[in-house]
Amino acid sequence: MTILVLGATGKTGRRVAATLGSAARPVSRSSALRFDWSDESTWDAALAGATAVYLVPPALNLEWAEVAAFLPRAAAAGVRRVVYLSARGIDPADRREAVVRESTVDWTILRPTWFHQNFTEDFLLPMVLADEVALPIGPGRHPFIDAQDIADVAVAALTSDGHAGKVYELSGPEALSFPEAVAQIAEASGRTIRVTDVPEGSFLETLVGFGISRDYAETLIGSLTAVRDGHDAHLSTGVQDVLGHAPRSFADYVKAAASSGAWA
Ligand SMILES: NC(=O)c1ccc[n+]([C@@H]2O[C@H](COP(=O)([O-])OP(=O)(O)OC[C@H]3O[C@@H](n4cnc5c(N)ncnc54)[C@H](OP(=O)(O)O)[C@@H]3O)[C@@H](O)[C@H]2O)c1
Repeated sequence: MTILVLGATGKTGRRVAATLGSAARPVSRSSALRFDWSDESTWDAALAGATAVYLVPPALNLEWAEVAAFLPRAAAAGVRRVVYLSARGIDPADRREAVVRESTVDWTILRPTWFHQNFTEDFLLPMVLADEVALPIGPGRHPFIDAQDIADVAVAALTSDGHAGKVYELSGPEALSFPEAVAQIAEASGRTIRVTDVPEGSFLETLVGFGISRDYAETLIGSLTAVRDGHDAHLSTGVQDVLGHAPRSFADYVKAAASSGAWA
């Protein structure tokens, strides 16, 4: 069994590949076997012999047309199952999810909340290390999820029956505000970290300054606005439904990250 893992250097793809072990074929633009969404000539070698795909759309620039072109190529190569990483609160008109649903292969859609690992492996890390987390967020709460829980659900859907045509909404076990989450990080790391509520416009420019495209920065701000307005605080049960146990807590994530020196 060969399972093609896209985005294999990213927060969930790396964990999916590690959990699958020798069944995984991990690829991205920087892997030995290169896969690039914007270079179709890299797709067939990655797909050769694969029977399932973990499909991670890159956060910054993937258009639905690329997913729509990729899925028939995957089916023709012998892929029978696709697990697609989407997001909770996704616009119902999102064409990327729609083309996955229209595909001829068995599909499963994962819709997670914001990942814990954004504080250690993504754009929130430099803010923590600068001792100021500046977001247009206010006291709104959000049930952050651990990337390993998403990976475990993905592996279950990739390797066992009963997940075709399912959409799993995935969250952590409790909703925390950003100030509460950052306070846990501050305590565990011994840092003094300020949380500043900034206007959306200036945050947009900060994201663009980090190299994030304006389009994706606007999408991120849209999801932060949902958090600020309290529309994204509810818990989802996908982790329990698929894995039969509770999701990992933010406190456990913080403890492990602090002891590995992530915020030293
Ligand atoms: N982060 C969150 O909190 C969160 C929450 C819910 C949903 N999501 C969704 O999850 C998806 C992935 O986001 P993420 O934060 O998990 O990203 P991530 O950790 O940065 O992973 C993205 C992966 O895509 C690869 N990649 C980037 N551009 C590529 C290209 N042109 N061709 C092939 N591979 C490419 C990257 O590897 P290389 O650079 O090596 O190519 C990396 O392995 C997004 O659609 C996002 O909306 C994220």
